[in-house]
Formats: sequence, C-alpha cells, structure tokens
Amino acid sequence: MAKKDLELFRTRRTVRKFTAEGISDETLTELLDAATLAPSRLDRRPLHYLVIRSDTIKTKVAEALRVRPYIEGAPVVIAVCADPVISPTWELDGSAAIENMLLAATALGLGGTWVGPRRNQLWERAVEVLHQVAGLPDNFRVVSLVSIGHPEGESRSYDPGEKLDATRIHYDHWDNLKL
Ligand SMILES: Cc1cc2nc3c(=O)[nH]c(=O)nc-3n(C[C@H](O)[C@H](O)[C@H](O)COP(=O)(O)O)c2cc1C
Repeated sequence: MAKKDLELFRTRRTVRKFTAEGISDETLTELLDAATLAPSRLDRRPLHYLVIRSDTIKTKVAEALRVRPYIEGAPVVIAVCADPVISPTWELDGSAAIENMLLAATALGLGGTWVGPRRNQLWERAVEVLHQVAGLPDNFRVVSLVSIGHPEGESRSYDPGEKLDATRIHYDHWDNLKL
C-alpha cells in the first residue's frame, strides 16, 4: 500500500447529511464487494446484506430508532445481518465488513453513518421492522445499519496522528510508554 493510500483512513468521516443524488447499482456492488472482502473468523462469512432503498421502510426504521435525518435522508441504508449459528463472532465479522464498506465509500467520494445497535427497546423495534416489513428471517440478527450517500458539504479530514494517544500504547509491559 502506497503511503498516500493511508490518507483514506484520515479522510473517512461520519457523514450524516446527504444530497438527493442516488447510489447506482454499480457503486452499490463496489461497496458490497469491499464489505465481503473483510476478514471473518475461520472464513465462515456469516453475513447477509439487506439493501434498503424503500422510503417506507427507511421511515419506519427511522421512527423506531428516533433518528430521522441520516436514515431517511440517505439514498441507501444497508442492514448488515448475520446468522449467529454460522459464527459466534458475527458481530466482529460484521464490524470488519462495515469498516471496509465505509472506507470504500470514502474512496468513491461517498460517505455514511454507522448506526450501531443500542442495547435498548428502540433498536429491538427497528429490528422488528426489518423482520416484519423487509422479511428478515427470524434466525438473523442485525449487526448494525449503515446509511450511505453523497455527502452534503465537506468534512474535515483527520490530521496525521490526530487521534494517536501515546498514553494508550504500551510496549511489552503496560507501564512502558513512549511519552
Ligand atoms: C458501533 C458504532 C455505532 C455508531 N452508531 C452511531 C449512531 O447511531 N449514530 C451516529 O450518528 N453515529 C454513530 N456512529 C459513528 C460515531 O459517532 C463516529 O464514528 C464518531 O463520532 C467518530 O467520528 P468519525 O466517524 O467522523 O471519525 C457509530 C460508530 C460505531 C463504531
């Protein structure tokens, strides 16, 4: 990987406001291709992707979660779903896929929000909507939702080392820091 490719990690920012422009099938395939290339434990690949373009479903999910703009305002919301029987590490596998997808979106000039599960009834209700309205089978869990679209406005990229905190890096022994 060339050093300039590392800029992708600094450019990726959570995008919560989108223009009205849609996402083509070709672009969607590129995002899903990146997601499916992520590592998964024992290469079990427990994930499925529910691509939500329907405004009705987006609205129902947004109402359930009580977060409207970055779900209803996104042209595509992808529910990353998993069968936990296939792999007990489904949440970790799903997280790796989501990060790949967000980085691919950044590389394509898109942006998105990772909408993670809340350990509460709002999340349960949103998942229920996916079961009832989008036909998500009963045995599938939802790792997270990812809304993707064309960013409205510019986001600031991170500076090199901006979040790198030397007090959190321990060399061979917890007490051994390089401050
Ligand atoms: C597991 C997880 C769940 C998240 N859930 C939400 C969410 O529900 N709503 C939201 O606006 N952002 C959500 N985010 C995005 C974070 O708020 C965001 O990554 C963080 O503020 C850092 O900003 P950055 O992504 O621009 O670097 C989530 C991120 C992760 C990893």
